[in-house]
Amino acid sequence: MPAIIIIGAQWGDEGKGKAADLVGNRVDYVVRFQGGNNAGHTVVIDSEHYALHSLPVGVLSPDVVPVIGNGVVVDPAVLFEEIRGLQERGVTCERLLISANAHLIMPYHRALDKVSERFLGKSRIGTTGRGIGPTYADKISRVGIRVQDLFDPKILRKKLELALADKNQTLTKIYNRRGLELEQILDEYLGYGEQLRPYVADTSLALNRALDEGKTVYLEGSQATLLDVDHGTYPFVTSSNPTSGGALAGAGIGPTRISKIVGILKSYTTRVGAGPFPTELTDDMGDWLRQSGHEYGVTTGRNRRCGWFDAPIARYSTRVNGITDFFLTKLDVLSGLESIPVCVAYDVDGVRHDELPMTQTEFHRAVPIYESFPGWGEDISLARSFEDLPKNAQDYVNTIAELSGAPISAVGVGPGREQTLELRSLV
Ligand code: GDP
Ligand code: IMO
Ligand code: MG
Repeated sequence: MPAIIIIGAQWGDEGKGKAADLVGNRVDYVVRFQGGNNAGHTVVIDSEHYALHSLPVGVLSPDVVPVIGNGVVVDPAVLFEEIRGLQERGVTCERLLISANAHLIMPYHRALDKVSERFLGKSRIGTTGRGIGPTYADKISRVGIRVQDLFDPKILRKKLELALADKNQTLTKIYNRRGLELEQILDEYLGYGEQLRPYVADTSLALNRALDEGKTVYLEGSQATLLDVDHGTYPFVTSSNPTSGGALAGAGIGPTRISKIVGILKSYTTRVGAGPFPTELTDDMGDWLRQSGHEYGVTTGRNRRCGWFDAPIARYSTRVNGITDFFLTKLDVLSGLESIPVCVAYDVDGVRHDELPMTQTEFHRAVPIYESFPGWGEDISLARSFEDLPKNAQDYVNTIAELSGAPISAVGVGPGREQTLELRSLV
């Protein structure tokens, strides 16, 4: 059995953590392939809440090898804090593998993320402030520092000297901040090197060997399609490729290994940070969705912006990722609504668009065209099979599948591990 990819199909926080836990339990390896500790993935097992930021959710499954792939950016202090927190709760992280090629988030990346956002003022992206963008920028500019550099103090010093010569100028002369001390960073990061050493591996080799032996690999996306630096609502995006193409580059495996691409889709839409969001509700209905769905950020605690389901977005995700199956989450949140509006297309300056318009300028002006579907009053959180759902809820699921262009193979009716209706096996 080859590899499967799980992708956020909207703007993040679709419930990838829960899906990852469900699938992660049945595979041998779970791999994070992009992003860093900007992610916040929640898993609820037997009423115990876990919030993971840097680690793959697979770490919670005792028989799985969790992997941090080459495409991820790692903040070692945050990673060790997360590992310590889990160990205190009896979760062992001994099996963890970290790619020697993963890039490191450095103190100047965090500093630059914060000051550049402040500098942008009203035009800010609303980043998580974790240094993600500046770290990927350095990776692409070929001045990044990788995990493997921690094992060569001479190289690390040289790279840091070069980096600080540039970053300290920027911090002090452009942003009027204090510069950073080379020796201090060097000591700190050489220390991390020693702590990281037992976990570091050629993860691409390990994954390909595992696949050759018939093991199963699951690639766990963070962020989402509309936050993708190529395919998202640029510039209001993250700085990596959370789409399925990014999964291959970020894990170091080839496309021929992939058997399924599962898109995680929330039954409505949310977004954190700035940027266009056609179906956003800024009225009482938006507040109701936020409260009913507990839509507050796992990483930054910010209120999530909320709105109705957007079918052109889902179709777009199906297309750019090659989604084969959807996992529709949080259907239970919609219980109690008399009717449920769904955006089926956009009106842009009087012209109907069934697909996302080509330019951001048009997308900013997109006005949703809604169709309403009958709601249901019943509490569905105890449903355990599709047949347990009221007829109108079943119809809503079928409508979403039809509008989104791929079958729905699982439906979430609550945050718990057991609150999933599996229509077809995801693995
Ligand atoms: P992720 O970033 O995609 O992993 O999603 P988050 O963990 O940031 O946010 C999803 C939230 O919804 C978490 O609090 C989950 O526990 C919760 N959740 C996931 N699936 C469901 C579901 O089917 N119903 C309900 N009510 N909550 C869910
Ligand atoms: P998970 O994996 C929702 C958003 C930020 C900001 C933009 C850029 O939990 O779905 P960054 O710090 O990445 O440079 O911020 O991307 N963002 C997320 N929104 N869920 C996430 O992760 C996100 N990670 C980043 O709010 O708008
Ligand atoms: Mg999240």
